[in-house]
Amino acid sequence: MSEGIVPVIETRGLRKVYAEGSEAEVVALAGVDLRIDPGEFVAIMGPSGSGKSTLMNMIGCLDRPTSGQYLCDGVDVATLDREELAILRREKIGFVFQGFHLLPRMSAEDNVAMPLGYARVPPAERRRLAREALAAVGLSERAHHRPNELSGGQQQRVAIARALINRPPILLADEPTGALDSKTGEEILALFKRLRDEGHTVVLITHDPEVAAHADRTCVMRDGQLHEEGRP
Ligand SMILES: Nc1ncnc2c1ncn2[C@@H]1O[C@H](COP(=O)(O)OP(=O)(O)OP(=O)(O)O)[C@@H](O)[C@H]1O
Ligand SMILES: [Mg+2]
Repeated sequence: MSEGIVPVIETRGLRKVYAEGSEAEVVALAGVDLRIDPGEFVAIMGPSGSGKSTLMNMIGCLDRPTSGQYLCDGVDVATLDREELAILRREKIGFVFQGFHLLPRMSAEDNVAMPLGYARVPPAERRRLAREALAAVGLSERAHHRPNELSGGQQQRVAIARALINRPPILLADEPTGALDSKTGEEILALFKRLRDEGHTVVLITHDPEVAAHADRTCVMRDGQLHEEGRP
């Protein structure tokens, strides 16, 4: 492990228990220690129900752990109040979901500009930033198309542009190629690799070993525990 570098993601003994103390109790994360350095591209695999999305939700600060620590870019997120957490999420983390989650009545450009916040960024600047993000995923020509006028791979690229609009250092993707054919999936993976080369940290959940093979390293979740691939 590289000494002296502040990991962009570091969890220590992270636990998440749903419905604690009830009959329906589920230990979704059973003490996860994960360290990801800036600029790494990491795949997370593991069977259904093993805790992958739960871990992603913790890393993305969408949910709080039951116990354990999470340092995001060196900041212990437990010390942040709601507003500070929202700012950290906006500035540090971009999300890409399996189903794209685009708004159907809005153009690609308006979808991409969504996370900018209406109050914070004036209209002309919103447009400029959205155009820039669309150009970065090779979709300049499609700015005024609605999602149903785009192919699956193009929709996923719009979703990635939206995740990148605030230039977050961390990009989290839960099954980003799950809904795509393999050729379109390859294009998305090539895009992730380029973002990694530009200094983004990419964490990707996948069921597909061929997809995971594109990452620099793979971690496997089993029953709420995380293992580095090739190690017990
Ligand atoms: N909100 C919740 N309340 C109660 N239990 C939950 C909740 N969310 C997830 N779980 C349980 O926690 C465990 C881990 O779920 P999680 O969604 O993290 O799995 P996963 O690895 O992402 O699975 P998949 O590959 O099917 O997406 C599962 O047993 C699930 O049933
Ligand atoms: Mg999941």
